[in-house]
Amino acid sequence: MGINILGMGSYVPEQVLTNDDFTKFVETNDEWIRTRTGIVSRHMAGWEPAWYMGREAARRAIEKAGINPAEIGVVIACTLTNDFLTPSMACIIQNEIGAVNAAAFDLNAACSGFVYGVDTARRFLDTDSSMKYALVITSEALSRFMDFEDRGTCILFGDGATAAVIERSDKLYSSYLGSDGSGAQYLYARSLRVAPEIAVEKEFDDGFEVKDNMHRLIQDGKAVYKFAVNALPSAFEGAAEKAGITKDDIDYFVPHQANVRIIETAAKKLGVSMDKFIVTLDHYGNTSSSSIPLALNEAIDKGIIKRGMKIALIGFGAGLTYGGIVMEY
Ligand code: COA
Repeated sequence: MGINILGMGSYVPEQVLTNDDFTKFVETNDEWIRTRTGIVSRHMAGWEPAWYMGREAARRAIEKAGINPAEIGVVIACTLTNDFLTPSMACIIQNEIGAVNAAAFDLNAACSGFVYGVDTARRFLDTDSSMKYALVITSEALSRFMDFEDRGTCILFGDGATAAVIERSDKLYSSYLGSDGSGAQYLYARSLRVAPEIAVEKEFDDGFEVKDNMHRLIQDGKAVYKFAVNALPSAFEGAAEKAGITKDDIDYFVPHQANVRIIETAAKKLGVSMDKFIVTLDHYGNTSSSSIPLALNEAIDKGIIKRGMKIALIGFGAGLTYGGIVMEY
């Protein structure tokens, strides 16, 4: 069984941080950031809640899809930056949008979130014939978890939200999801502050570095880069093989938007021209779970991705996680 993305919506906060803005708090420059990452600017949520951004995106997606929110059977919110440890972002948004008949839960697969979320939605629709629509939301307020003294990390990320109303269909669809927890320490942020002296006691030592600013995102950029350039091609190949198609059947690849050099390397490995890759990281940065759907929705709005085209959504992220979907839009 395949799916149809009936309607999508995006929301990014108004505030924009350019590369030049970063020179006010870290030793960096526009040229370094552009050439090493491809990023020029990104949106910042400030204290705008992540659930609020997600709700705005959800409202837009529902309006585009032209459906009644009461017909949504499940709300899946993909996020690693929920405002609360509990309740879930999905429950807050479910109430805000009047999805009164929906189950609701959050899904954390970091930057692979949208791929995992869409695939989870498809499984709900496949196994519950009474369910008409699934709503997959992504919303990230990453700036709240950023160490703005770590120039190798803070320049990479941005904030934003998306949503997609999904229904079942018989169109082409195949997915391939995976994880490698042995790389968990390459990219992480603690959810609670733990006193360092307690955390490092042997029985509590989880092996993750302990810093004063413990809830900040900590990454080994080089290790993530190495993982990413292999994860993107294999996420595609895994999904394509299951569907019995090849790269030549794909009209557009929508990759996770972390670093344009990662995308270029993946394109080269796959033997696909960069013209077939949607790139929006120059103006959004890496928005984690929102990165693939922000790019997808923009390409749809611009008329680049059209109905009937075959697309590949390919992601990787903290966890480590990776995932690919090939589908007809
Ligand atoms: N401005 C200026 N210089 C910077 C800088 C910045 N913002 N960040 C790092 N540097 C410096 C480093 O300190 C280093 O200086 P040194 O040679 O004097 O030690 C130099 O630039 C090179 O650093 P390096 O880490 O080798 O750069 P890089 O080419 O590997 O790029 C990343 C760094 C983080 C951009 C790159 O590794 C990357 O994109 N990794 C993947 C991260 C990612 O995608 N994370 C999210 C995954 S979902």
